Amino acid sequence: MINLILFGPPGSGKGTQAAHLVERYNLVHISTGDLFRYEMGNNTPLGLQAKSYISKGELVPDAVTIGMLRNKVEAHSDANGFIFDGFPRTIPQAEALDHLMAEEGTVIHALIALQVPDEAIVERIKLRGATSGRTDDSDENIIRNRINVYKTETTPVFDYYAQQGKSHSVNGLGSIEEILARLCAAIEGIERKP
Ligand code: C5P
Ligand code: MG
Repeated sequence: MINLILFGPPGSGKGTQAAHLVERYNLVHISTGDLFRYEMGNNTPLGLQAKSYISKGELVPDAVTIGMLRNKVEAHSDANGFIFDGFPRTIPQAEALDHLMAEEGTVIHALIALQVPDEAIVERIKLRGATSGRTDDSDENIIRNRINVYKTETTPVFDYYAQQGKSHSVNGLGSIEEILARLCAAIEGIERKP
């Protein structure tokens, strides 16, 4: 079993790379952003609650996000492993994830961060906004707020797992194949127990 956190700023390619990695390593991909967008698309109470934060580029409160994540993990308790994409985004989310993994009899094996400079991110997200239909991808102020939230609230999660000796970084610039190869090289080096 291997449980990975694919980490990095918005627009760093987490979703794109996760789609390749789940196939290669037979893992379950959990993107909390995708889960929120599904709920918003269906106008569920959870979706409506999330929308007020997402439309401003802010984080949905931890309790809401953690509850949603827990449901998804518990629904796949027979999985060969998980790729968490866009979660954890705060220290309380990281602590909750570690507890949840312990309950499942496993651990987070590694966090791998995709490194992409701010200006490249803004350009990528604007490009994606042309086709994604995501309102949070089409306004530069919202995009910059998401980057700021990442720096203040989310980057401590890298240090949290670094203290456990589990954080890795790869260069997130290049072709999809080049970046995938870097991620796979990092994953091959990870200890897979328990
Ligand atoms: O991960 P992604 O960039 O798709 O997330 C889109 C938005 O969903 C974030 O900007 C944030 O508003 C919300 N989100 C969150 N907490 C998470 C994941 C996503 O608040 N753990
Ligand atoms: Mg994504």
